[in-house]
Amino acid sequence: MLVLGIESSCDETGVALYHSERGLLAHRIHSQIAMHTEYGGVVPELASRDHIRRVLPLTEACLAEAGVTLQDLNAIAYTAGPGLAGALLVGASVANALGFALQKPVIEVHHLEGHLLSPLLAEPRPAFPFIALLVSGGHTQLMAVRGIGQYELLGETVDDAAGEAFDKSAKLLGLGYPGGPALSKLADRGDATRFKLPRPMLHSGDLDFSFSGLKTAVLNLVKQQAALDETTTADICAAFQEAIVEVLVKKCLAALKQTGMQRLVIAGGVGANRQLRAGLNDAAQRRRYEVFYPPLELCTDNGAMIAFAGAMRLKFAEPDYSYNVRPRWDLASLPSVA
Ligand code: KG4
Ligand code: ZN
Repeated sequence: MLVLGIESSCDETGVALYHSERGLLAHRIHSQIAMHTEYGGVVPELASRDHIRRVLPLTEACLAEAGVTLQDLNAIAYTAGPGLAGALLVGASVANALGFALQKPVIEVHHLEGHLLSPLLAEPRPAFPFIALLVSGGHTQLMAVRGIGQYELLGETVDDAAGEAFDKSAKLLGLGYPGGPALSKLADRGDATRFKLPRPMLHSGDLDFSFSGLKTAVLNLVKQQAALDETTTADICAAFQEAIVEVLVKKCLAALKQTGMQRLVIAGGVGANRQLRAGLNDAAQRRRYEVFYPPLELCTDNGAMIAFAGAMRLKFAEPDYSYNVRPRWDLASLPSVA
């Protein structure tokens, strides 16, 4: 079965072709970061308009790369939510229009389910059940995953998401938008012992997170500095990254212990962070847990994870071309594919 996947929930247009026997045949991403940079964040209206410009050329490029035609598709999957309403509408309308024109069924995909299942696009594939840490710009959640659509929320952030904390702290340090990757790069050169930052909710006894205080602590540190030279900036980055990684690693271990599960899956943009990966690998190795990641280029938003999640949900594909996007959508409300 060949599924076309379309992602347009935020600032990346992603298109991909996933074949249930042959795997990922093609995937293309257009990032809007350069366009939004001058505004210091995503401008929703600009995002929607750019998705319109990109989605069909990316689709054509994927079809050409895979050597298939639209007629070869068995279904079309698209991100129906959560995300920016206008941006989601682009993917939803293109997917439904294509489906209607080709008389192929369409599948609504939950963006976070896409992220959550993206490690299954790498080898070796994690078997169910597993603990998933979803760490993106919008979400920080720990879930117990027992199968496709069997998601139990164990804990989540009570304020900022981990990626948001990276981005906001990076902005305070003058590192631009989205500053997560830049902050992480500078942190590699910094001295993490020079400044001490808090580990919010490390000992809260539950699996929730809080990151807004960490950002405030960075703000206070920045204000205390006579000059924010490169060394000081790198040292603050290193202290910040160490604090956030320690909290994420400890809560993952607590979730594994609490559920008695043996496998941990990391998904979402912050999953690309090298120190987080090193910290998790090290902690897991010592306790004989297994850790799984998506391929690096599939950590941030992409069409491959949407095509894949769509392929897992083929039984819900419908030749019904009325659509409605869901800017807010509870992952735990999805039907199980058992
Ligand atoms: O999953 P994603 O592409 O989008 C959402 O669905 O939110 O994640 C984007 C987030 C941004 O906050 C970005 O700064 C962060 O992931 N990110 C990183 C790294 N790469 C991306 N944060 C820390 N270290 C990285 N290497
Ligand atoms: Zn995402």
